[in-house]
Amino acid sequence: MRSSRTTRTTSQIPAARPDSGSPAAADTLVVGGGIIGLVTAWRSAQRGMRTTVVDPGPGGGAAQVAAGMLAAVTELHYGEEDLLGLNLASAARYPDFAAELEEASGQEIGYRACGTLAVALDADDRADLRELHALQRRCGLESQWLSGRECRRLEPMLAPSVRGGLRVDGDHQADPRRLAAALLLACERAGVTFLRASAVAVSVTHDRATGVTLDDGRAVRAGQTVLALGSYASKLAGLPPELVPPVRPVKGQVLRLRMLPSAYGPFLSRTVRAVVRGGHIYLVPRTNGELVIGATSEELGWDTTVTAGGVYELLRDAHELTPGLTELPLTETGAGIRPASPDNAPLLGPTTLPDLHLATGHYRNGVLLTPVTGDAMGELLATGELPRQARPFTPRRFTRQGHSSTHRSPAAATPTGSEPQEQSA
Ligand code: GLY
Repeated sequence: MRSSRTTRTTSQIPAARPDSGSPAAADTLVVGGGIIGLVTAWRSAQRGMRTTVVDPGPGGGAAQVAAGMLAAVTELHYGEEDLLGLNLASAARYPDFAAELEEASGQEIGYRACGTLAVALDADDRADLRELHALQRRCGLESQWLSGRECRRLEPMLAPSVRGGLRVDGDHQADPRRLAAALLLACERAGVTFLRASAVAVSVTHDRATGVTLDDGRAVRAGQTVLALGSYASKLAGLPPELVPPVRPVKGQVLRLRMLPSAYGPFLSRTVRAVVRGGHIYLVPRTNGELVIGATSEELGWDTTVTAGGVYELLRDAHELTPGLTELPLTETGAGIRPASPDNAPLLGPTTLPDLHLATGHYRNGVLLTPVTGDAMGELLATGELPRQARPFTPRRFTRQGHSSTHRSPAAATPTGSEPQEQSA
């Protein structure tokens, strides 16, 4: 996780040392090596651009915690119909994306077309689920209402108290850790350069983004710079206030258990989700025996502490859903950060500062949106145009109307009267 990053003021940024051992200039510089940064870098390199990723630990980040549900239908929310279109488009790309990435990396990513069952435990939960079903139908989505008995026939480990559920055969899963590892390998094989360092500031020269300054003072120059730092993008110095990505951290705690082989079949054969007394829970079973249970949703800044309360609530609700779960070994607890935007949708594409792009704000859908994000960013970097489907997610939707495309850093805006200088502003 990236919980060790700290905010720096401009005066704390090491002075740029552009002439002393600076890395080679790139066509594309991707700042942040989580799955979104890696897929962007991979697509950029595939299109023949010299591509560099800056990250102290590429392949880390939220992918090391996330469960990897590809839940376009079961995580549908009111008011997110535009996002639904992007989520469905990305879900549809997953089989080809998985095959291409596995071929390019030689690594499996745990893509599993297992489907999902969303269940209700009491009358209020059932009313919630009925509303979700109605919304799904209005959006033309496939989901089938089942009685409690029908749910238990599909998943015999479910509690007798399950009152009904929605069978959604189109919501699948991938393993985010294997996805990150495969993307890292695919990037390396495609010739992406990795700089294992932290970026502290965006460099602006003649009112264009020209790369970043690293924490050791080196400057990295680039034709185009992509910020794929999740919510940490808002901590980078050098951006005028209106360009700071409006992305905030939302903490999620997650558990990992090991399902034991049983003569009676698998513990669970598909993803199971539920609302338990208003709290959302999901259980994601992998073919390798791992069972991921998530997740809390906490607005606590960049805190990634695993708390007794978080673990207790997850186990309590999971036990209510599948009582046999207490027999399973608990192998891991963890906490990660979801990058949430004001409308819960990602920020994809150019900012109003020339040559500065964003690929962030994926919130609950980072793993799901990885294929479509890679395709959109690759197209943008190569042609200067976002594909039509990605255009509603431009970061410019949060930028003041009529704002000038000329940006000056606070330093450059001081009345020195000097010529524009390269700076880490
Ligand atoms: N999409 C699952 C989560 O955000 O917890």
